[in-house]
Amino acid sequence: MAKAQTIFTCQSCGATSTKWSGRCDACGEWNTITEEKPLSQGPGKKSLGNARGRAIPLTDLSSKEAPPPRTASKLDELDRVLGGGLVPASAVLVGGDPGIGKSTLLLQAAAAFANAGLSVVYISGEEASAQVRLRAQRLGLQDAPVKLATETNLRDIMTTLDETRPDLAIVDSIQTMWADNVDSAPGSVSQVRASAHELTTFAKSRGSAVIMVGHVTKEGQLAGPRVVEHMVDTVLYFEGERGHQFRILRSVKNRFGAADEIGVFEMTGAGLSEVKNPSALFLQERSQPAPGSVVFAGIEGTRPVLTEIQALIAPSPHSQPRRSVVGWDGSRLAMILAVLESRCGIPFAGLDVYLNVAGGMRIKEPAADLAVAAALLSAREDASLPPETVVFGEISLSGALRPVGQTENRLKEAQKLGFSTAILPTGGKATATKGMALSQMEDLTSFVGNVFGAG
Ligand code: TYD
Ligand code: MG
Repeated sequence: MAKAQTIFTCQSCGATSTKWSGRCDACGEWNTITEEKPLSQGPGKKSLGNARGRAIPLTDLSSKEAPPPRTASKLDELDRVLGGGLVPASAVLVGGDPGIGKSTLLLQAAAAFANAGLSVVYISGEEASAQVRLRAQRLGLQDAPVKLATETNLRDIMTTLDETRPDLAIVDSIQTMWADNVDSAPGSVSQVRASAHELTTFAKSRGSAVIMVGHVTKEGQLAGPRVVEHMVDTVLYFEGERGHQFRILRSVKNRFGAADEIGVFEMTGAGLSEVKNPSALFLQERSQPAPGSVVFAGIEGTRPVLTEIQALIAPSPHSQPRRSVVGWDGSRLAMILAVLESRCGIPFAGLDVYLNVAGGMRIKEPAADLAVAAALLSAREDASLPPETVVFGEISLSGALRPVGQTENRLKEAQKLGFSTAILPTGGKATATKGMALSQMEDLTSFVGNVFGAG
């Protein structure tokens, strides 16, 4: 008989190996590998053999089925990220750092869906019922017809859900669930995987929607929800900087809608409130045009969002100057600096570079390249851009500027918010609109020459 083998699982990415090591080969995290019992011990056969199973009926791609009926929560920011509302029998994972506001968001969502006519069960494995009730009171949601329970035993939860058959079950959080058939501690990858599997299967077989909360921690105390991402239909991330009141709900995977859609919320004393016009909010703290500050006209999902990009350049006391980025990709910054240096002859050696996206926004678009370059140059030359100007465009390694998608939308949003000039690459589908001057450039060198003199 084969010996019952233990496996070693990375608590961060879920990779398995047969021996322990200090660093996970798959994701590179340190001290995340722990010993776990494998989920099931099969009979040890190498192949399926000749035994016949059941033949599965095959169907065509064409179907007469109507698109899934969605329920809108009337929290527009949430509905948009879900792809237009909650789909029955879907499994949704909401991930985010501790304390970012996941429980608050889901309690508000629970109340909103309950008020929209769904039967909603909210199961908290983290907080006592009294705590959840207190929070509901604080948010003014105590009268919403939400059924509440505090439990971590998955078997009891599944039995309860099977009996009540709610339209929506919310489980906060997947890391606190404990399945008694799995021989490891709550929060370990096997437990998280088993719990998510049970809940997803429940959603599919019973037609209830399930929303699960997952923590993301660097310490690896609680397993990251990465392993669960494959199982569920929709993965949403709730992001934001702790010091800022803005929170962004971003869909990174959605089988029922567009990925990369965002919903913007503001954390207030009375819970999360929706931000209908994020551009105005992100720009509200912007003062007069200042060196190092540039407004980027970006697109998040289907929506244009204007954000302020700030750069600071200072002589470095260190032999290795600092490159510090908040809200953007550090390696992309290194690339822009290299292009500025080798294509435009503007050196950054011996200078510390700080780059910040104002308001706690995180930009993932390459279209921000030109705005970042503009902020860096503006900070370096101590010269501000012309007032009421937005900038966008991708920079290639050759120093050429590449047009980006949805130019029209970006320009419209900028105009709506009172901007009168746009600096953008040539090409693309830019048409001049009344009251909006377009300044189109071929490459970074002409940008430097036109905007900052000879550089
Ligand atoms: P919470 O939803 O508990 O975060 P998570 O479930 O992601 O860990 O929210 C935590 C923070 O939100 C907490 O620091 C307090 C703040 N908060 C407010 O500012 N206003 C509110 O109305 C509520 C309920 C929370
Ligand atoms: Mg919580």
